[in-house]
Amino acid sequence: MRTHARRQVLHAVAGSLMLGAAPRILQAKPAALRIGVMLPASGTYAPLGAAILQGMRLALQESGGQWAGRPVEFLTVDDESNPSKAPEHANRLIARDKVDLLIGSVHSGVALGMAKVARESGHLMLIPNAGANALTGSACAPNVFRTSFSNWQTIYPLGKVMADQGIKTAAFLTWKYTAGQEYAEAFAQGFEAHGGKVLTSLTLPFPQLEFGPLLAQIAAARPQAVSCFFSGSGAAKFLLDYARSGLKDKIPLYVTGHTTEGILHALKGEAEGITSVLHYADGLPNAKDKAFRQAWKKVSKLPVDVFAVQGYDTGLVLAQALKATQGDPTAKVMQKALEGIRISSPRGDWVMSKAHNPIQDIYLRQVVGQQNLYKGIAAKALEDPGSNCRLS
Ligand code: BEZ
Repeated sequence: MRTHARRQVLHAVAGSLMLGAAPRILQAKPAALRIGVMLPASGTYAPLGAAILQGMRLALQESGGQWAGRPVEFLTVDDESNPSKAPEHANRLIARDKVDLLIGSVHSGVALGMAKVARESGHLMLIPNAGANALTGSACAPNVFRTSFSNWQTIYPLGKVMADQGIKTAAFLTWKYTAGQEYAEAFAQGFEAHGGKVLTSLTLPFPQLEFGPLLAQIAAARPQAVSCFFSGSGAAKFLLDYARSGLKDKIPLYVTGHTTEGILHALKGEAEGITSVLHYADGLPNAKDKAFRQAWKKVSKLPVDVFAVQGYDTGLVLAQALKATQGDPTAKVMQKALEGIRISSPRGDWVMSKAHNPIQDIYLRQVVGQQNLYKGIAAKALEDPGSNCRLS
């Protein structure tokens, strides 16, 4: 039990002794688990942050509002997807708010800043989205676990999909920051491994939305297909601009599913037919997903998306691991419970790798109406190479 929790229990015991009461020690309420949550509540990734938080709350609600018998308090911070503020936010949650563990974030740069703080303080950190490869690779740590994906995992399989459809040349575009750069590299790796050639790879600063000049360069390069990484409301704007530029009817889009996820309800057919790969899809043939979708409808008006599932799974991971540690959230104790943890998830069953990243199926999807429809498995039980992770 962390010092803070122990102090609260001792306080309750002392109180009962001073009052001369019968041994109320047995009835002392377990101290609340204090969870520091850093997610974007503003900017292009705000909808992702909201879905993740709602997903965690749903998992908690399904456990009767407690994990391992301890009530839970989420102390949330809008991290604004701003990496330069991440260390300050994380340090404040630890030093001032005395949280037991950290959860965050969506943006790779923010999560890298948080992880640095977590490594120094020794607090447990769970990552419910950010895919920066280093978090479970060269910068992996005994106390840092990811419940989502690595950036490599959610685009590498696209190369084979495209090659199988006879595509030999492509252009890539994305935001210029850690995630975008990793998506560009992993796309090229997967595409070239299957005989493809990337003709041009373009970037614009995060989170800018002036796609016009890049689209003109793509038209000039005349690739057979276009791939990209964008997400959130910026992705919706990109897909709108791509369709309005007239390119959609000439050069098909093959993308990481982050680009079409959680935004189709905001479009009017501009994304129809786009092929993508991701670790979740609409119409997955599994009972857990059907139950999750029904439960989700009762707590949110928004359609289910991968971000909701990642938040929900973060809750499932905590529930299961805390049960094993009898409510002790200290990283050293939780590490044993989290390594190799197997989760029965709406995305399908997955298992935590040695580098602390999910080993999971990556699905092939296609946009039909407002759905990223399941079309099959693009890569079975895909594990991030995490090649530079040394944990012991
Ligand atoms: C990232 O920054 O790692 C990220 C953000 C949104 C979706 C996927 C990845």
